[in-house]
Amino acid sequence: TDKRLDRVKETVAAIPDFPKKGILFRDLFPVLTFPDVFKGLISLMSEYVKDAHPDCEGIIGLESRGFLYGPMIAQELNVPFVPVRKKGKLPGELVQVTYQLEYGTDTFEMQKNSLKPGQKVVIVDDLLATGGTMAAAVELVQQVGGIAQCGLVVIELVDLKGREKIQGTVKSFLQYS
Ligand code: PRP
Ligand code: HPA
Repeated sequence: TDKRLDRVKETVAAIPDFPKKGILFRDLFPVLTFPDVFKGLISLMSEYVKDAHPDCEGIIGLESRGFLYGPMIAQELNVPFVPVRKKGKLPGELVQVTYQLEYGTDTFEMQKNSLKPGQKVVIVDDLLATGGTMAAAVELVQQVGGIAQCGLVVIELVDLKGREKIQGTVKSFLQYS
């Protein structure tokens, strides 16, 4: 495996019983405390997009932790960054999708004119759990006329089978049970 990924793996924290008893929470913020490890992760993710989707024309980032990775990758690839935000935060004409959370629902929004017709984009988030968040983002990209080339996450919690909910491919760099 890649040395850069080994460094990330060593740095991710596992916190038992957060946010509730019985959950082993994977925390990526320690990676951001080591600039060289964070840089390595961004270069790994950017290289993946360059190789797998050389015609990528934009990066979509999901509020809030997708905002930590998406803009850095977009800069590396020299393509636009476009945000997906929780409802009520974006101005202008919007499209929205309501998605399932563990308890209740949440709504994501995107600006109607934020992508060109047929613009090819990669959707970036920190972590895939049940897949509801990423599936909602794929739907939003389609609603504004874009083409989602893949969902890109650092961590996939494989037992939750989130990728089964998502049309198209998902690439993850670390997988945990
Ligand atoms: C977390 C995480 C993903 C999402 C994954 O975000 O950052 O976006 O959950 O869960 P899912 O695959 O089951 O949908 P959260 O909703 O906690 O919001 P935050 O990024 O603003 O903390
Ligand atoms: N870590 C961070 N975010 C999450 C997790 C986790 O283990 N599960 C669901 N969202």
